[in-house]
Amino acid sequence: MADRDGQGDAASPWTEQEREVLSEAVGAAPSVHNTQPWTLVLREYLAELHPRQVDLLDEHDPRGRDRAMSFGAALTNLLVAVRHLGRLPHVERAAEPDGEPATAKITTTRQATPSVVDERRFAAIERRRSYRGAFAGGPVTDAERDTLRTAAGLGPDETHWITGGAEALAVARSLAYAARVLHADAEYQRELAHWIVRQDATGEPTPGAGIPENALGRQGLPAVGLVTEHTKLPDESLLASRIEHDSVLVLCGGTDSTVDHVRIGEALQSVWLEATAGGLAVSVMTQPLRLEEVRKAVTEQLGLAGIPHAFMRFGRTA
Ligand SMILES: Cc1cc2nc3c(=O)[nH]c(=O)nc-3n(C[C@H](O)[C@H](O)[C@H](O)COP(=O)(O)O)c2cc1C
Repeated sequence: MADRDGQGDAASPWTEQEREVLSEAVGAAPSVHNTQPWTLVLREYLAELHPRQVDLLDEHDPRGRDRAMSFGAALTNLLVAVRHLGRLPHVERAAEPDGEPATAKITTTRQATPSVVDERRFAAIERRRSYRGAFAGGPVTDAERDTLRTAAGLGPDETHWITGGAEALAVARSLAYAARVLHADAEYQRELAHWIVRQDATGEPTPGAGIPENALGRQGLPAVGLVTEHTKLPDESLLASRIEHDSVLVLCGGTDSTVDHVRIGEALQSVWLEATAGGLAVSVMTQPLRLEEVRKAVTEQLGLAGIPHAFMRFGRTA
């Protein structure tokens, strides 16, 4: 078949139904403050994911790290959905100016039966949510931890489970410090207030429209994971015991580049889908890592070989 839209092998144009599946999958991806900093463009044979600028994010995300990680999360959903449709995706990343994620251009070459893993993750796309409440059921098992770590698909030095009282206390101190700094930062709080919205009638976040105020965490890690002017500042030892009780995974990258941020975002979403498929509840936080001194302290406290980019917290709701 002749090359069309960069398409070099026997595949048909996207059908209307396929377009809907891809759009819905991308629209269900998590993003910093639910800003959805991407645009999906579906051409006849191509799916393109473009980065999108977002106003009122400079205080929270001056380096664009969270935007790039969100872009990576959306890319994971897109690729899972393409495979669910029985197509084999090929990703080409077009060069972008410094600091912007590269536009991902996806062609498909042939019909391919989706794997069990793809189908499991695809089914989790619409069920995945941030859960910032307290956990209720038993601890996450070692086998579940192994599954989640494997799902990240990162190098051995790029994931770290916070383990034991000493690590939990050290991290609690850093997070409590970050909470105090961000709580007192008027400019930061003004910007964040723009993204905290009233819940709509369904109780679901509206894609791209900020975080419903009732989805915020009131205690423990989720409360220090998104500190608003109304957040009650935590007691460090109580926070440490909650961190020890929850299962908290740190995702690290070898560099602080946009390429790495996108890659970590892709990994984060693969882990999130796998956890959702396995019946675990999840919340993610990057907010404290916005402070350079916190990134540095967490790196030292946990003896990380890479740069910490995100915390993921897992547990059961019943
Ligand atoms: C890169 C990235 C960073 C995030 N950082 C935080 C955070 O620091 N604190 C937090 O509570 N939620 C954080 N989130 C979760 C988003 O707020 C959430 O995905 C978004 O509001 C949509 O809600 P949902 O996950 O329930 O679909 C982050 C998500 C992503 C993808």
